[in-house]
Amino acid sequence: MKTAILATLSLIASSALVKAFPTPFDQLRVFKHDEPEQRLIQYSEDSPAKWMTQDDIDALMRAGIKYMDITEHEELAPVSSLVSHSAVFPTAAHYQDEVAPFIGNLTTQNMHDNLQTFSDFHTRHYKTKWGAQSAEWLHGQISQLADTTDYITVRKFKHEWDQFSIIARFEGTDASLENQVVIVGAHQDSVNMWLPYFGRSPGADDDGSGTVTILEAFRSLVENGFHPERPVEFHWYSAEEAGLLGSQDVASDYQSKGREVIAMLQNDMTGYIGSNGEVIGVVTDHVDDNLTGFLKTMVDTYADINYVETKCGYACSDHASWRKAGYPSAFTIESEFGESNHYIHTSEDTLDKLSFDHMKEFAKVAVGFAVELSHQK
Ligand SMILES: *[C@@H]1O[C@H](CO)[C@@H](O)[C@H](O)[C@H]1NC(C)=O
Ligand SMILES: *[C@@H]1O[C@H](CO)[C@@H](O)[C@H](O)[C@H]1NC(C)=O
Repeated sequence: MKTAILATLSLIASSALVKAFPTPFDQLRVFKHDEPEQRLIQYSEDSPAKWMTQDDIDALMRAGIKYMDITEHEELAPVSSLVSHSAVFPTAAHYQDEVAPFIGNLTTQNMHDNLQTFSDFHTRHYKTKWGAQSAEWLHGQISQLADTTDYITVRKFKHEWDQFSIIARFEGTDASLENQVVIVGAHQDSVNMWLPYFGRSPGADDDGSGTVTILEAFRSLVENGFHPERPVEFHWYSAEEAGLLGSQDVASDYQSKGREVIAMLQNDMTGYIGSNGEVIGVVTDHVDDNLTGFLKTMVDTYADINYVETKCGYACSDHASWRKAGYPSAFTIESEFGESNHYIHTSEDTLDKLSFDHMKEFAKVAVGFAVELSHQK
């Protein structure tokens, strides 16, 4: 009897019908690999990491506590030889003429269309087939843009799970700066905190908004011939919601290859306007102070709205992985942290609550940041 049921079930699971219409049973196949029972979780800079079960970790997320899952990268820490440039950033914008056409070319329509498709995936949970499909779609969009330019490469950065991260890179014109890189990032995965693996999770704001914001910045740079002095990269991370897993893999890989990351700017949630009016939240805790000072200059110079300082706590997005690896990182967010979108991590994180004009302001800042820091001086 038992065998008969199993045989029937596996027949159903392998049928073309199930592939076309995924069911919870179909999703379960993703988890047939045994995972470690407990993960090493850090949720504060001051207290030691703790081994926790998946249930405990899910409870942490529902309580709104951000954490880093450091199971695979317990040793990630600054390497002094790689951070020599960290302290010095320009105190003013020097390349406004170069930046202007890139900003002038940004559109809200592209961001809208991309976000519509991206948030239509049932979820972008990193361990689901939908998460892998959405990554494929995003990779296709990025590759298509970069197709005709020989000094831009787009690659999949593979992880232990199906959803890969994506890295698009402009090679620099100055070979002596080849090992230095400026990074603009966002995360592509989403999560439903009540039903992490199966629940509907449009993730329009978190972080579909950041994803399409930096995609639009990237598009404008590509289509208008941006060719930096030092390499500039755009990163779309997998598995941010699971404790910054994707960005930790990438940061640790860069460190092991001896790369010098000059600066990293994270865009996580750029679409929701808080009730205190339209501002750009510049995060001031767990970031590089000097880079954050430069980021404020970028907002003042290139955005049409003001910034407001805000704090978001420990490990609140992927910039924290770069910081842990000793690289200067900074973070822009849609509003003061307390005013940010309360629908995230639910099925209600939808596009209709967002402003594309607001997102465009972040795209301007991202473009300014990338272009200004792509120059040696
Ligand atoms: C910021 O820059 C100053 C002077 O260049 C340096 O002394 C300081 O250590 C830097 N701070 C950080 C957080 O890097
Ligand atoms: C943006 O730039 C591209 C390439 O130069 C051009 O074809 C397009 O018309 C521009 N769009 C806008 C809205 O400026």
